[in-house]
Amino acid sequence: MIKFSQRLQALPGYPLAEIPSIKRRLIEAGVDVIDLGAGDNDTPPPAVAVESMTAGLRNPALSKYGFQQGLPEFRQAAARWIERRFGHRFDPFTEILPLIGSKEGLSHLPLAVVNPGDVVIVPEPGYQAYLGGALLSGAEPYIAPLRPENQFLLQLDQVPADILRRSRLVFLNYPNNPTAAIAPRPYLERIVALCRQHGILLAYDNAYCDLTFDGYQAPSIFDVPGARDIALEFFSLSKSYSMTGWRLGFAAGRAELIGALTRVKSYVDTGPFLAVQKAGAAALDQGEEIVAPIRAELQRRRDAAVTALQDAGFSVEAPQAAMYLWVPLPQHAQSAAFAKHALEEMGVVVLPGSAFGPAGEGFFRIALTVGPERLRAAAERLGQALERIRRGPVATTA
Ligand SMILES: Cc1ncc(COP(=O)(O)O)c(C=O)c1O
Repeated sequence: MIKFSQRLQALPGYPLAEIPSIKRRLIEAGVDVIDLGAGDNDTPPPAVAVESMTAGLRNPALSKYGFQQGLPEFRQAAARWIERRFGHRFDPFTEILPLIGSKEGLSHLPLAVVNPGDVVIVPEPGYQAYLGGALLSGAEPYIAPLRPENQFLLQLDQVPADILRRSRLVFLNYPNNPTAAIAPRPYLERIVALCRQHGILLAYDNAYCDLTFDGYQAPSIFDVPGARDIALEFFSLSKSYSMTGWRLGFAAGRAELIGALTRVKSYVDTGPFLAVQKAGAAALDQGEEIVAPIRAELQRRRDAAVTALQDAGFSVEAPQAAMYLWVPLPQHAQSAAFAKHALEEMGVVVLPGSAFGPAGEGFFRIALTVGPERLRAAAERLGQALERIRRGPVATTA
């Protein structure tokens, strides 16, 4: 018999794993399913990326191994984009690293800094790749709850001193998935100071930095003086460029930190497809024009969904960023039971808060992946699901 590792057994079920098969069953049965589950917009990828990719497929040079260096053009476009967007300069060849989607880099990062017995601080609710990466590296995860009363900001100064001493890495993600929270500058300054004090690497996940509303501009962690000593920042083309399946992102930071992640990756992958990197470079160079309409559409969707959900009986506020609504449920309602009911009886895919860890209980997440009309229809159906759980035991049987 094959015995599996304790690491494997420690991995909780991945949140989105079961939904596709339930969804397929419902669609086959004729249900009009509205999928607000994965953060995967229905907007098409940028024309410039599609054109570049089409040409790239015909260029045999781009079918070769990319290795970690990848396509110089992509590194240069990423460095140019960071400079335009945030005003920070990074050397394209030593301080930028192409990733096969930012999830890949984030989840491999612990391997570069963790020894047995070390702690990785993981926000909860949060993107589950942080926990997965920590567990797969053999680290001891320390779960830091994100609570509404703290505006869903990870309270690093409340982590016990003995844990902080053993911590090598903390994941931070603002604009946040799933809560859509944003991080004020003084908060980021405190985080950087604490990481510097304790020698903790800060993995700042900025996947949603361009999906911001009402004029809000999300910062880079490198806006904080001294952050370069202790932080790596992760960017993704998935969300702002509607390129989720293309698998392209990048990390930025000082050469020693980028070098450590590069070394790990050189043993596990050979970099993103070069044609994808070329297309990504073309998209980044037109970043502002490409992202503006996506941002405007998301804001329309946010407004439609918030109003419709409020009308349907939910108390939800309009977030300033990301592509999610993090919606509170009535007290004692179980989010898994609600999401199951919403999917199986109402044909709406939402993610239960508990899928983002136990601290996410009491909420569910909506991704703004479809247009205003469909969001309004979904909100109406979710309102019926809410009525149903208010009435009876579906709330307490998961
Ligand atoms: C917070 C966060 N970080 C990173 C990612 C991963 O994005 P990518 O497609 O670049 O791997 C996601 C995807 O949902 C996310 O929500």
